[in-house]
Amino acid sequence: MIIYKTKNYTDMSRKAANIISAQVTMKPDCVLGLATGSSPLGTYEQLIDWYKKGDLDFAKVSSVNLDEYRGLSPEHEQSYRYFMNTNFFDHINIDKSRTFVPDGLASDVAKFCKDYDRLIEELGGVDLQLLGLGRNGHIGFNEPSYVFERDTHCVDLTPSTIHANKRFFNSEEDVPRQALTMGIKNIMMAKKIVVVVSGEDKAEALKEVVSGPITPMVPGSVLQLHPDVMIIADEAALSKM
Ligand code: GLP
Repeated sequence: MIIYKTKNYTDMSRKAANIISAQVTMKPDCVLGLATGSSPLGTYEQLIDWYKKGDLDFAKVSSVNLDEYRGLSPEHEQSYRYFMNTNFFDHINIDKSRTFVPDGLASDVAKFCKDYDRLIEELGGVDLQLLGLGRNGHIGFNEPSYVFERDTHCVDLTPSTIHANKRFFNSEEDVPRQALTMGIKNIMMAKKIVVVVSGEDKAEALKEVVSGPITPMVPGSVLQLHPDVMIIADEAALSKM
């Protein structure tokens, strides 16, 4: 596990974008595992900027997203599909038919989850997985639990996550109670993992992830077992270490 300390959110985003752009340049048909939330937003902005300057080409890239709220349509402004389209895909030359986000409206959830696992396999696995970190140590929507869920699954969101994510909705009642998420095995199978963490409110979780015991109660702690993880965190996020 490599920890790269940056001064602030902007530097963190530029560093992460640098690694993703190196990946896309070295393997133009790579598979990117992508994340939503405020943490990767600056990374996407930087990548869009470099794309517009002609430095990057996403034409052959495929992507699979970590998670999606259950019950939200792709058009819903708080759905992760909408987030990805408006904050990234609409601004680069990626082929949208090769961008995959879990279907929040899937009626047969068990089948959908199996199909999503198969899709990742058929794509040849994820070359680079970008991750944010939840305030309770979650990755994707793998919430603290007694076991590590391996595969894509439906999860009940914890009160702390519902509370943390209410800032994106009109009220806490509007936050969906469930989500579909890649499992820990899906994430750990990625060849390379880049985690972006910013702000003091993540400091405790980051400390647990990096130096606490490996436990499903802190899902991100499993990353200690991955052979190629880079955590890019700003000073505030690293303030407890
Ligand atoms: C959300 C997402 C995660 C994200 C995390 C942190 O609930 N499911 O993928 O990493 O919470 O979000 P943020 O980056 O906005 O703090």
